[in-house]
Amino acid sequence: MRQGQELVLSQRFEAVNQFIGQSVAAQKARAFALRVAAGSDLTVLVRGETGVGKDHLAELIHELGRCGKPFVRVDCGALTETLSEAELFGHAPGAFTGSVGAKEGLVKVAREGTLFFNEVANMSLGLQAKFLGVLDRKPFRPVGGKETFPVKARIIAATNFKLEEMVRARTFREDLFYRLNVVPFSIAPLRERKEDIPELAAAFLAESRKRILPEAVDLMTGYDWPGNVRQLRDVVQAAALMSNGEEIGVEEVKPRLDQQLRQVAADKRVISEFYDEDRRLLPIREIEKRYLSVLLEAAEGNISTAVAISGWARDTVYRRICQFGLEDFVLSRRRDAYLKRMVKRREV
Ligand SMILES: Nc1ncnc2c1ncn2[C@@H]1O[C@H](COP(=O)(O)OP(=O)(O)OP(=O)(O)O)[C@@H](O)[C@H]1O
Ligand SMILES: [Mg+2]
Repeated sequence: MRQGQELVLSQRFEAVNQFIGQSVAAQKARAFALRVAAGSDLTVLVRGETGVGKDHLAELIHELGRCGKPFVRVDCGALTETLSEAELFGHAPGAFTGSVGAKEGLVKVAREGTLFFNEVANMSLGLQAKFLGVLDRKPFRPVGGKETFPVKARIIAATNFKLEEMVRARTFREDLFYRLNVVPFSIAPLRERKEDIPELAAAFLAESRKRILPEAVDLMTGYDWPGNVRQLRDVVQAAALMSNGEEIGVEEVKPRLDQQLRQVAADKRVISEFYDEDRRLLPIREIEKRYLSVLLEAAEGNISTAVAISGWARDTVYRRICQFGLEDFVLSRRRDAYLKRMVKRREV
């Protein structure tokens, strides 16, 4: 083997190890990156929850196959429908009022590198139609231009949405979905590959030169990581920043996890207030009733406070209390003469 070849191979080996983890899922991700980078330039769709490493895998595929060439990241939600064509394909001089020189679009800037379409689910339907042409590798023409140019870049798209459901709801084009789904790969959430946690945590600490103690690792392994690898990175790095010594123990990690757990519990509670046990959306009346009991609890039965918090008129608050049968709750906490009279009147 020639020296140059050896160097390229060892660089590839290093790059592939950047997708850290010994779980079967991490090993599969590395094998997938190597295979698609070495093989054809078919479109790749990377799927997975937020923070699992979709961007990271796309960059790895690029490093392995098209290292040294441009890696262009397109945030699909940020592309405006009117400007998107010019952003993607560029424009000729004076193509619009106000445009002076010519501008190269992202497809051209990527050249023979990689075009990474991040969160394809956020593309407007209008843009999806234009994107279809890119996937079909149709030569494109800059806005107002005469010449056409070929699409040379490899295309990788990522999403954490259920595109199949969006296709059914007609918010995502079916033809686009099939074109994108040629070589799909799903990265498993971190809670399904907890054996990767110690190695990932150590990698995120490399710069700080701090060490994480086994008890802290145990604690982290018991946690579900709804924000996946990104959340792990943030927790570990914040713990490193706050620890005085060389070691990170339970005391540094626990408060950060507790904080995250509280947030998750709060998020879940907010969402569950809107649904019944079968995840069916509740009627607004039921939601109002639930809101009113939380409101009265927060106001400790004080109607003025409830009015101030809710923004409802005083009359409305009284009316709803009677409507939803929450009079006893209020009267057990406050001597509210007005409400007492309302109850009496009804009893007569
Ligand atoms: N296996 C891994 N090895 C090393 N670093 C990783 C790995 N997976 C994720 N990361 C790191 O975790 C962070 C979050 O990953 P990334 O941004 O790729 O997630 P994502 O799936 O694209 O998230 P989002 O859905 O929010 O776009 C990044 O800093 C990334 O480098
Ligand atoms: Mg991402």
